[in-house]
Amino acid sequence: MDRTAARDFFRDITPLAPMAMGGNLPYRRLCRQYGAVRTCSEMVLAHKLVKGGERPLIRHHPDETDFGVQLAGKRPEVMAEAALIAVESGARFIDLNFGCPIDVVVRRGSGAALLKRPAKLAEVVAAVRAAVAVPLSVKLRLGYAEKKLNVVDLARRVEDAGADAAAIHGRTRNQRYSRSARWDLIDETQRAVGMPILGNGDLLTVWDLQKRREETCVRSFLVARGALKKPWIFEEFATGQPIYPDVPARWAIMRRYFELACEHFGDDEKGLGRVQRFFLWHLKFWHRYHPWTKAEHTAQWPDSLMQSRNPSRTGDGDAALLASSDEADHELIWRRVLDTDYPTD
Ligand SMILES: Cc1cc2nc3c(=O)[nH]c(=O)nc-3n(C[C@H](O)[C@H](O)[C@H](O)COP(=O)(O)O)c2cc1C
Repeated sequence: MDRTAARDFFRDITPLAPMAMGGNLPYRRLCRQYGAVRTCSEMVLAHKLVKGGERPLIRHHPDETDFGVQLAGKRPEVMAEAALIAVESGARFIDLNFGCPIDVVVRRGSGAALLKRPAKLAEVVAAVRAAVAVPLSVKLRLGYAEKKLNVVDLARRVEDAGADAAAIHGRTRNQRYSRSARWDLIDETQRAVGMPILGNGDLLTVWDLQKRREETCVRSFLVARGALKKPWIFEEFATGQPIYPDVPARWAIMRRYFELACEHFGDDEKGLGRVQRFFLWHLKFWHRYHPWTKAEHTAQWPDSLMQSRNPSRTGDGDAALLASSDEADHELIWRRVLDTDYPTD
């Protein structure tokens, strides 16, 4: 693919962000159903992939027509070999993870650790660029720590090294999720480079997306936690209208995930065990859904609603059950989803 076409591949899109656990294949299909055309694997460790591990993570479903694989690692030749394996298994694009903040990855010198080593980071990009012809993106943060916000420099270097796009999570490694994402710096980076920047951080509603469109020149956006809370967020973004599914509709969405997960993991005892593990994990995000109005939501700007708590729900009805953070309630929801005869509307 020529470079112009590869850049265009990343223009004006709103993909599902790469997410460990959250970006499992059945959840990606659920998001796909709501309009997430572009999907990405969970983070894949390149050194394990080249040794024959991580294979389940690079699988995708035929529904996922625009599926990419995200790789993490620091050795250029290993990353290049891993990228080839991913492309041979059907990845339409490769994303390189230079944002992962977790200690085990950073201690190995991979993920966000490379934000402190721009030349090395560019070397990794160049090696992968030379190995594969598919579109290539990288995932960056503003910098490693607040005292050195070097994202503009990093973006220029990865562009020179042959990347076609960069997703920027508007926080540093050390901040984790402690502050709202800084979209001014994401915007500044887009102004400094020719390749598309995918803005990332705290897009939870149509109003967040509209605000970022109005206030920045960024035109592509990556959604992570918003999609874990609301898989239908992609439909909201496509139509520009909020969607407030009622309780029966939310049961139906959970049942749909259950079906997709059974299809993927199997519905024998072993498969169901895995389905349950993922289902209960997703409930930790699903229960946080709250039907914010525009006035309620925008009143909380500039702080991220991810940091604030939803109003507590009381009562015995299903609305309260679905909003509960209690693990016993999550078990109850799981059992009701398992029991196809249980009326949920
Ligand atoms: C559960 C979870 C897992 C994540 N795993 C990855 C990952 O594997 N690779 C990656 O680049 N980012 C990962 N992220 C970060 C997101 O892709 C995204 O950059 C970040 O959550 C900010 O976007 P948001 O405000 O839309 O959530 C993860 C985030 C979450 C919540």
